Amino acid sequence: MPNKFASKSENMENKKKILITGGAGFIGSHVVRLFVTKYPHYHIYNLDKLTYAGNLENLKDIEGHKHYEFIKGDITDAPFIQRLFEETRPDAVIHLAAESHVDRSIKDPLSFINTNIIGTVNLLNAAKAIWEPEMDKHLFYHISTDEVYGSLDHGGFFLETTPYDPQSPYSASKASSDHFVRAWRNTYKIPIMISNCSNNYGPYQFPEKLIPLCINNIKNNKPLPIYGKGENVRDWLYVVDHARAIDLIFHQGKIGETYNIGGFNEWKNIDIVQLLCRIMDQKLGRAEGTSEKLITFVKDRAGHDLRYAIDAHKIMNELGWQPSLQFEEGLEKTVDWYLANESWLQNVTSGNYQKYYEEQYK
Ligand code: NAD
Ligand code: TYD
Repeated sequence: MPNKFASKSENMENKKKILITGGAGFIGSHVVRLFVTKYPHYHIYNLDKLTYAGNLENLKDIEGHKHYEFIKGDITDAPFIQRLFEETRPDAVIHLAAESHVDRSIKDPLSFINTNIIGTVNLLNAAKAIWEPEMDKHLFYHISTDEVYGSLDHGGFFLETTPYDPQSPYSASKASSDHFVRAWRNTYKIPIMISNCSNNYGPYQFPEKLIPLCINNIKNNKPLPIYGKGENVRDWLYVVDHARAIDLIFHQGKIGETYNIGGFNEWKNIDIVQLLCRIMDQKLGRAEGTSEKLITFVKDRAGHDLRYAIDAHKIMNELGWQPSLQFEEGLEKTVDWYLANESWLQNVTSGNYQKYYEEQYK
């Protein structure tokens, strides 16, 4: 398949310029690292507002690369975004910037509407303005979530053709942004692609999400809050495998298409937390069963989706993508990373996070 972004040029004038949004966040930092290290013929711009979830520590190892540039900015600021596109003239956009945590969306839906919907439309407008009339030389790749498809009962999978049925303010805002991206293709002929991925885990995930929150709490002998009965099911993928899928789709995906990404790896929340307890007892030299005692069932999340499960046959069959890690192996690597990066964890859990945590789990 022809790859319009792979023509190599070491000459800065001819380098393809890729704007990655949200590159200081969890998944974005893995995508930026992969693109900066793997594609020296690209110039990578990382646009990020550095909210509580964005952290330049996540990219310390690549910050000095000569074909990498960080830009601090807010995608909800339309005049700024317009100016940025005029000045940098990116050839392609990989859009990850978002408010991403369901519990926060329940408390403050408007900030999700602003960033996830208005922010996305600002980027689409700015891209359209500089890419016309040569739209087909460009690409707007939008990163989305399986949560747009709603909640599954005990059977079935989400396919690319599954009708949208978002149930939380977060998933409603992501579903809306997906619709706007498709509308800009239909109406203004912007070349777009969308991928919808299942739950990610791995290094650099902010410890408000289930897995890093439990790792942090086990380490500190704090209660492990399980919503409801812990029967909800999520389909987990190691973040590096998501970044590899994004790379593949960006280079070999078909314009206008949607790709679901997931590793056929469904787990009940309670089973994951018990597995984490066993791994961490071993790593911390604690007697077996010590950490499980920290499990605490708490009030369920409002409108808690029962089950997500991705059918990833399309990306596997059409693009040859496969996850590289088994879940137990990925979880162990993740625990090792958090234990080895204590100062990262301390930095991100100080300050405002403390207030959020006390409020959420009071
Ligand atoms: P994250 O919360 O860790 O990072 C989001 C990043 O976006 C942060 O660096 C933040 O500073 C930045 N950002 C937020 N608002 C901004 C704004 N107004 N302007 C510029 N930058 C802003 O999120 P993540 O988990 O890395 O998710 C990245 C993307 O992948 C999101 O679009 C999310 O919906 C999607 N996604 C996430 C998962 C998952 O399991 N985490 C799964 C599927 C899809
Ligand atoms: P989360 O990591 O917030 O991801 P998402 O809501 O996007 O799937 O939550 C994963 C699952 O874990 C979800 O079913 C909610 C549950 N959960 C808890 O039981 N306790 C917690 O403290 C958190 C943050 C999540």
